[in-house]
Amino acid sequence: VVNGAGADPPVDAADFERRAERYDRDAEVAIPGYRTLHELATALLRGSLPIEARVLVAGAGTGMELAVLGSAAPGWRLTGVDPSAAMLDRARRRIAGAGLERRVELHHGYVSSLPAGPGYDAATLLLVLHFLPDDGAKLALLRSLADRLEPGAPLVLADLHGEPGTPAFEGLFRAWGESMRAAGAPDDEVAKGLQAALDSVHFVGESRMAALLAEAGFGLPVRFWGGLLFGAWICERVRG
Ligand SMILES: C[S@@+](CC[C@H](N)C(=O)[O-])C[C@H]1O[C@@H](n2cnc3c(N)ncnc32)[C@H](O)[C@@H]1O
Repeated sequence: VVNGAGADPPVDAADFERRAERYDRDAEVAIPGYRTLHELATALLRGSLPIEARVLVAGAGTGMELAVLGSAAPGWRLTGVDPSAAMLDRARRRIAGAGLERRVELHHGYVSSLPAGPGYDAATLLLVLHFLPDDGAKLALLRSLADRLEPGAPLVLADLHGEPGTPAFEGLFRAWGESMRAAGAPDDEVAKGLQAALDSVHFVGESRMAALLAEAGFGLPVRFWGGLLFGAWICERVRG
């Protein structure tokens, strides 16, 4: 499915087209505990969803969480949404490799271009929201998700976060470079990776994240995973 024009424009989609080929390898190097994040997100959803459920995967990328979630629960139907065709191509191959085609639907576009109204029992938004500026775009994406979730449905969210310029942030940022080196990235790649993050990520602190979630219609986030500047939370679509 290809989306209608114009929704949610602030991310440079061409940037993800370029990154798609290297994404899986880069993610393993740059995100401490990348696989653990997906395993824990899956464990949380298995712990709270019924045997049959509809799960919305926003920013599906190369399909990592579609494959992990789809393999974990044979009764779940998944919808993966992403504005990057190159990322979705890779997701499609990963899904086929895992034999999940019949339970996974891919939507080329944005959450806001999916049919309106509730219908999903859970959603994931892993490593996506940090790319949107906090000028209404982060809130709009969270609201689009809230609008499509049943009351009480869980949202699993992971993001880079923190307050640039604070000693805590700067210390974790330097350590991030060291962790990429330790994972085998050469110096020039580390420098490029850190600069790309500074250029493309719109960092907010944990309390701002909680305020955005509340404004969009979600309850208190509970943190379940973290590594340096990365964090992940689960919260619920408020009832009524
Ligand atoms: C860093 S990747 C994360 C992929 C995957 N969720 C994972 O955990 O590996 C971010 C993805 O978000 C997508 N994206 C960017 N802006 C988006 C938006 N407004 N709505 C949905 N997805 C978006 C990008 O195309 C990219 O595939």
